[in-house]
Amino acid sequence: MKAQHSNGRGRSPFLTSYALTLAFITFVSVLYFKDFSSTLHQPFLHRPPPHHRRSGQISRPLRHAHHGGNGNAAEHHRAAAAAQQLPFAVGAAPAGCDVGLGEWVYDEAARPWYQEEECPYIQPQLTCQAHGRPDKGYQHWRWQPRGCSLPSFNATLMLEMLRGKRMLFVGDSLNRGQYVSLVCLLHRLIPESSKSMETFDSLTVFRAKDYNATIEFYWAPFLAESNSDDAVVHRIADRIVRGTSIEKHAKFWNGADILVFNTYLWWMTGEKMKILQNSFEDKNKDIIEMETEDAYGMVLKAVLKWVESNMDPKTSRVFFVTMSPTHTRLG
Ligand SMILES: *[C@@H]1O[C@H](CO)[C@@H](O)[C@H](O)[C@H]1NC(C)=O
Ligand SMILES: *[C@@H]1O[C@H](CO)[C@@H](O)[C@H](O)[C@H]1NC(C)=O
Repeated sequence: MKAQHSNGRGRSPFLTSYALTLAFITFVSVLYFKDFSSTLHQPFLHRPPPHHRRSGQISRPLRHAHHGGNGNAAEHHRAAAAAQQLPFAVGAAPAGCDVGLGEWVYDEAARPWYQEEECPYIQPQLTCQAHGRPDKGYQHWRWQPRGCSLPSFNATLMLEMLRGKRMLFVGDSLNRGQYVSLVCLLHRLIPESSKSMETFDSLTVFRAKDYNATIEFYWAPFLAESNSDDAVVHRIADRIVRGTSIEKHAKFWNGADILVFNTYLWWMTGEKMKILQNSFEDKNKDIIEMETEDAYGMVLKAVLKWVESNMDPKTSRVFFVTMSPTHTRLG
C-alpha cells in the first residue's frame, strides 16, 4: 500500500513513529503530575464532595507522612497535600505550572530513551531504522513545559508503581504505539524468563511476572462496537459504528487500575458517520447517518458513563489521549 522506503520529509509514513514517540512522551510526562486532573476538572465527571473524600482518599504518601507524625502544623499541611494526591501520581508539579503548556525541544543528550533494535515488541511496520530511515533526529524531541521541568522517566519507579496492577491502553494504532513504547521503556529491567507478551484476539498482554503486573492493549478504534473491531482484518473504507454499544469491549476493561483511552483518527473520514441501530448479526441493518462530531460525542459519553460506574477514582486513574496527527503519506 505504502512505499517502505521514503526520503520524503514530514509526510513520510515514518511520521508514524515520530508522532507516536511525541505522544507517548506527553503521556508519560502527564502521568508524573498529580494535577493533570485539574485540566479535566478532576478524574471523573462526578466526584464525591470533599467531606466524603477526606478519610477515603488516604494514599501511600499520606501514610508515610503520618508515620511518626506528631500532629504539628507542617505535618498536617503535608498530610492535606498528600490526601489530594491522585492514584499513581509521582511527585508534584510546582504550583501554577501547567504541564500542558510548553513546547517541544530538541535534546541531543538525553534522548532517545531506548533504541529501536533493543526492543523486540515494535511492530515491523514501525521499525523505521530497520527499514532504512537515514535520520535519527526524530528520536530526540522532549516536551518542555513553560515555567517548570518534568522529572526524568524512571523505569524502576514505574515498575514499582505497577506492582500488582493492571495498566490497559484502549484504542487505535496510536495508543498501540504508546503501549509498545512503554513496554520498550520498561522491559530491559525484567529478565527474559520473567516477562511475556501474548495476544488474545483484540487484547495484547505484556506480563512482568516478578511484579505481578500487566500492561495491556485492547484494540477498539472507535471504543464502541464497530465493523473495524478485528485487530487484523478491518474495513477502513466503510466504517460503521454501533450506536452507544461499548459493552462488547468494555467487559475486557473491568479491573484495570490505569486506563488510557484514545479514539480520533478513525472518525476522520470527512463524511457523515454510519451508526448501526441494531446489531451486526441482524440481517437487515438499521443504519442512520450522523455528523461526525455528534457521533463522537455520543460514544465518548457512553465511555464516560462506563468509567463512572466501573472505575473508582480513589484507586484507579483514567486518561484520555486527545487528537493526534494523521499518519498516512497524504494525510
Ligand atoms: C528511580 O526510582 C527508584 C525507585 O524509587 C530510586 O531508587 C532511584 O533512585 C530512581 N532513580 C533516579 C535516577 O532517580
Ligand atoms: C496479583 O495482582 C492481582 C491484581 O492484578 C491481585 O488480585 C493478586 O492478588 C496479586 N497476586 C499476588 C500473588 O500478589
